[in-house]
Amino acid sequence: MCRAVLLLVVFSLSCPAAEALDNGLALTPTMGWLHWERFMCNINCDKDPDNCISEKLYMQMADVMVKEGWKDAGYEYVCIDDCWPSHDRDAKGRLQADPRRFPGGIKKLADYVHSKGLKLGIYGDVGKNTCAGYPGSLGYYEVDAQTFADWGVDLLKFDGCYMNWTLLGEGYVNMSKALNKTGKSILYSCEWPLYEWPYQKPNYTAIRETCNHWRNYADVYDSWSSVKSISDWTASHQDIIVPVAGPGGWNDPDMLVIGNFGLSHDQQESQMALWAIMAAPLLMSNDLRNICPRSKKLLQNKLIIDISQDSLGKQGSLTGKFDSFEIWERPLSEKRLAAAVLNKQEIGGPRGFVIRAIPGWKMCDPKCNVTQILPEYKEMGVQTPKSNIVLSVNPSGTALLTITPLSSDFTEMYKLRWEDLSVKQKHATIL
Ligand code: GLA
Repeated sequence: MCRAVLLLVVFSLSCPAAEALDNGLALTPTMGWLHWERFMCNINCDKDPDNCISEKLYMQMADVMVKEGWKDAGYEYVCIDDCWPSHDRDAKGRLQADPRRFPGGIKKLADYVHSKGLKLGIYGDVGKNTCAGYPGSLGYYEVDAQTFADWGVDLLKFDGCYMNWTLLGEGYVNMSKALNKTGKSILYSCEWPLYEWPYQKPNYTAIRETCNHWRNYADVYDSWSSVKSISDWTASHQDIIVPVAGPGGWNDPDMLVIGNFGLSHDQQESQMALWAIMAAPLLMSNDLRNICPRSKKLLQNKLIIDISQDSLGKQGSLTGKFDSFEIWERPLSEKRLAAAVLNKQEIGGPRGFVIRAIPGWKMCDPKCNVTQILPEYKEMGVQTPKSNIVLSVNPSGTALLTITPLSSDFTEMYKLRWEDLSVKQKHATIL
């Protein structure tokens, strides 16, 4: 689509820097559930039948996703991660699910998930073994792609363990081709850049042409330090990775860990806001059968999901740092803007932050409409270049806003102008 409009300069400016994998999938960031962070490689179904990696876990998650509003909110993929297969391929060289934990096999599980109106994701590895030591796909790309297609699988997460790094690109490209050859639409989630960064700068043009999303950085853990390190990595590499994201291909900062044990509620709000601004896949890894209502409400917040899934398809970035505040902005369709103000000071109480809509702020000249989505929904109303928008942000929390210009002739996106009140009024922590 981008190619067709290249002559029209105005439209071509909205195209990402490279062509996306042309499989018609992931036109907006993928939404779903993925088992890894919460359930890891728990294969002990005798001792822990409710939490081990077995067909029951995915069937129960699919049931809850339909019953509890997750599907209606947009979460669509139920994804298996590592530790699902048997250690041995079958007589024809095909992967097979562990027969004790998946007695019905993956095809039956896919049928079940499809009967709920959801999609099934599976996991493989470009190398000799998966990271947890199960059989990898090296030497079997076509066989495995066909097996996944025959089972009716809708998404493949393809890891990069046990692979000579110089062959990574070739392997990921060959699996992409093998998936395409099956004729079934299978969303392709890669970890290619993550495994290449230690050696060289990855070729993101090739990655975007090959994968629907790609992990760049380390695995997420259930902790604020992990979420922070991911957003820090993203900010420090944004010049390289932001331009390449767009419909069909996204940077993947890893799973949402909201609803688990390690993040305070403010930190959960920060992860949700940042992942929406970063146009990240929203793949939750938590126990949907038992999740606190506040986390559930946050994960199902329609206004945040609307930012994540915005049709303009541009990834946002870090646009300002003031004292320990970070400002992240994402351009949205209809010339709107999403802005997140993150308070990274992990001591004290709520801190004031003022957005001054000074005359340089073209979005609000002559006026704009501002809505606060986090920490709570608040119509902030019509603002003008004379306005001061006052926010209060908790330690490691985030204020999330959308700004809609009300000027008919507003054509360009201008960065906001911010002023950190607490820098000016050193001791005024609460407004
Ligand atoms: C790697 C990946 C994780 C997960 C595990 C499974 O560490 O990055 O997301 O898939 O392997 O072993």
